[in-house]
This record gives sequence, structure tokens and C-alpha cells, in this order.
Amino acid sequence: MKTVKTLHEIRSARATLPGPVGFVPTMGYLHEGHLSLVRQAKAASKSTVVSIFVNPTQFGPKEDLAKYPRNLERDLALLESVGVDLVWTPENQMMYPEGYQSWVTVEEVSKPLEGSLRPGHFRGVATVVAKLFNGVQADRAYFGQKDAQQVAVIRRMVIDLNFPVEIIACPIVREPDGLAMSSRNVYLDHEERNASTVLFRALMSAKRMFMAGERNAATLRQAMLEILEREPRARVQYASVAHPESLDEMEGEIEHALCSLAVYIGKTRLIDNIVL
Ligand code: PAJ
Repeated sequence: MKTVKTLHEIRSARATLPGPVGFVPTMGYLHEGHLSLVRQAKAASKSTVVSIFVNPTQFGPKEDLAKYPRNLERDLALLESVGVDLVWTPENQMMYPEGYQSWVTVEEVSKPLEGSLRPGHFRGVATVVAKLFNGVQADRAYFGQKDAQQVAVIRRMVIDLNFPVEIIACPIVREPDGLAMSSRNVYLDHEERNASTVLFRALMSAKRMFMAGERNAATLRQAMLEILEREPRARVQYASVAHPESLDEMEGEIEHALCSLAVYIGKTRLIDNIVL
């Protein structure tokens, strides 16, 4: 496994890799969710590239950039153990040098849900992913369905800006009790960790109702809210039943939907979703 930092290095290293090349962009502090993307990339590609970069431009001024968990040594050991070929760890100074002024804005699909609560977040995500794509020039890139809106934004960007890369969305990897794996789960104390399963329980209740024939968007939304509101440590930001592509909130009868949640457990903001 080779590790590189600069744009020049990633370009030269990439040029020596046999294709097709699969790429997994990450912010590090890797867990089984990230590794599942790597395994899927490996299974379909001759070479696998992973980037680790805590992208400052996707964090709001009051968000957790400074304390975002990091452990590069451990991450590299994990990536080596699953057989990654090339790791790119770019630095802030190289990604956003003085005078930097170019941004990718994906308009409509960035606006609801996460976009409405984290202004500028998807502008930062789309911009960094465009830059990472230009560095790695992969054939396929792997993203987790955990960040469903991120997948929708990146898919739109790739179509709109003619990026020659196929976007693959991979299933959410969960802890045995249902909590979606996340680098931010380390912020949870013992009590909060117990409370955090409320997101999965709320989503499962919507799924059970849908499977039993319930099709009304408001009823499904209300069922999730009722479960969330019974958990004293949970503070709900949204409980959404939205169109799976536009992410517009739906009313009345639905056939398919993305049910998604953003909930503070104590000071930790968790998101999760399920597609019906
Ligand atoms: P990060 O949060 O490190 O996640 C990297 C990738 O892992 C994302 O595609 C995310 O959806 C996926 N992932 C995280 N938890 C997962 C889980 N439990 N199951 C399946 N996949 C999971 O997302 C980012 O970084 C950044 O926004 C990035 C795309 C790297 C741009 O900076």
C-alpha cells in the first residue's frame, strides 16, 4: 500500500495503477461502514484508492471541525489490512491555498434536510469531492447510503458536470443494536449510547407500518416522531418522509420514500435513514 500527499504524487501513483480503479473518499477515523465501501470497491475493481481528508469547508462555524476524531496511524493499518492499493492524505494548504475561490454548488437537491440546517455544507462536500475526483480519476466512486442526501448531491454533480465516474451507493452498516456506524459515535457517553438506538427504532416502526400497508406520509412521519419524543435525551431536528430523488417532503399517499432523521443525543448530532 502506497501513501501519498501532494496532487503531483497522487497523479503519478494513479497512472501506475491497473484499472478499473475504485475510489472511496473519507474523512478518516475509519470504522466498519467505511471498510464496507472499501470491500465493495475492491470486489469490483483492479485497484482501490482511499482518500483521508477532514474537509474544513463542509463544517459550519459552530460545528465540530477542531475536535473531529482523527487517528491516521490506525486508519492506515486498517486500510492496509483490507488490501487498499493507494491512500491519498492531502493537506489543507494544498486543497485550499491562499487565494482559493472556486466552489461547486448543486442547487435544489442541496436545499432540504441537512442542507436547510447546515448552510454551506453541501457546497463544501461537492467542492472537495470534485477536487478529489480530479486527483484520483477513478472509474467508480463508492459512497454510503448513511449520508443519503450526500449521495443525491454527488450523483447530480456528476451528471451535471460530466464527471467520467460511476457513483455506487452502498448499504448502511449498523452496530448489532441498530445504531448506524459513524465516526461521531465516539462522542456518546454510556447513557447517550443507549438512547441513540431510538433513531433505528423510529425508522423500523415506519418500515413496519409501511410493510403492513400504511401509505400516508404524515402518518409515517408522526409515528417516527412519537418514538423519538419518548426518549428524553433525544432532540429532534427533523423526521422526514421525502421523495427519494428530489428529497422534497411528501404529503398524502406515497409509493416510495426516503425516511430520514436528524436527532441530537446530548450534544452529538446523529443522522440515519431508510428507503421505503
Ligand atoms: P465520512 O463521514 O468519513 O464518510 C465517508 C463515507 O463513508 C461516506 O460515503 C459515508 O456515507 C460512508 N459511511 C459512513 N458511515 C457509514 C455506515 N455506517 N455505513 C455505510 N457507509 C458509511 O462522508 C464523508 O466522510 C465526507 O463528506 C466526504 C464524502 C469524504 C467528503 O469530505
